[in-house]
Amino acid sequence: MKILVTGGSGFIGSNLVDKLISLYHDVVVIDDLSTGKVENLNKKSKFYKMDICNEDILEVFNKEKFDIVYHMAAQIDIQKSIKDPIQDAMVNIIGTINILEACRKSKVKKIIYSSTAAAYGNPDYLGIDENHYTQPISFYGSSKLSSEYYVSIYSKLYNLDYTILRYSNVYGIRQDKNGEGGVISIFLDKIISSENVSIFGDGSATRDYIYVEDVVDANISSIEHGNREIFNIGTGKYTSVLKLFNFMKDIINKEIGVIFEDERLEDIKDSYFEINKSMGILNWKPKFCLEDGLRKTIEYYNNKHI
Ligand SMILES: NC(=O)c1ccc[n+]([C@@H]2O[C@H](COP(=O)([O-])OP(=O)(O)OC[C@H]3O[C@@H](n4cnc5c(N)ncnc54)[C@H](O)[C@@H]3O)[C@@H](O)[C@H]2O)c1
Repeated sequence: MKILVTGGSGFIGSNLVDKLISLYHDVVVIDDLSTGKVENLNKKSKFYKMDICNEDILEVFNKEKFDIVYHMAAQIDIQKSIKDPIQDAMVNIIGTINILEACRKSKVKKIIYSSTAAAYGNPDYLGIDENHYTQPISFYGSSKLSSEYYVSIYSKLYNLDYTILRYSNVYGIRQDKNGEGGVISIFLDKIISSENVSIFGDGSATRDYIYVEDVVDANISSIEHGNREIFNIGTGKYTSVLKLFNFMKDIINKEIGVIFEDERLEDIKDSYFEINKSMGILNWKPKFCLEDGLRKTIEYYNNKHI
């Protein structure tokens, strides 16, 4: 199949591109390299260095004639979204509409949209299922949720198939230490460099950490399954930030200090997903426990620091 991955030089996107190519798909990447890296690009993919807000994107769509579009390119930094909501909305909302317009005009069959747990905001109950109300507490959560609506309205009006995947905190190889789910790569960077780690709040906040290969697998399943539906992609398990930090320290076997800083208002207190719907309909389940995923990630970062 001819497949586009926007954001395909980024953390999750580049891991997805590698998998799609290993499955013999013909893969095109659109990325402006704002946070993505040239070295992440798979040499067997075709690359367009472009901003997703650029209207010339339609020419690429008309030329390449995609069957499937994975839309992963985004402004992913919650703090940046608070400081500059206009730029966040430009990339995450206007950029998505531009991609959807190109899908409509070039008759793409299906879009698979990467969304986020931030769409739910502070949950009323745990594990959060897909029926939980959405009330984001950051502009990032709001812009990603807003794009979900555009995706589903385009689908209704123009018969475009879609699957929306809301990820919990993704970690793994190629993750940058900036960004939404970056706590594991930030900790690793600090632990490997023997620097103290900052934790916002008392460290009791919990998250559902999912290894990137499991997220890639959910994206692959979405080609065939889960049409016109929203799915939570997480592990269904939770770990506190402090426990995570201690766990990582133990695996690396280093003594590192912690500085506790003030809680941030835009941070969600506790979050983990209920994933029964994804496991049932997407015919998918996470394969990596936190320890296995962390070991793979640590090995990758250790090799990078040599
Ligand atoms: N990492 C997580 O834990 C997490 C959690 C929930 C959802 N997500 C979603 O997954 C997707 C991928 O995130 P990631 O963690 O791989 O982030 P990333 O920053 O590594 O990847 C985003 C990619 O998009 C590109 N990009 C940004 N703005 C662009 C623009 N205007 N035009 C073209 N390309 C642009 C960047 O260069 C980068 O390669 C995003 O949509 C994000 O919202 C990520």
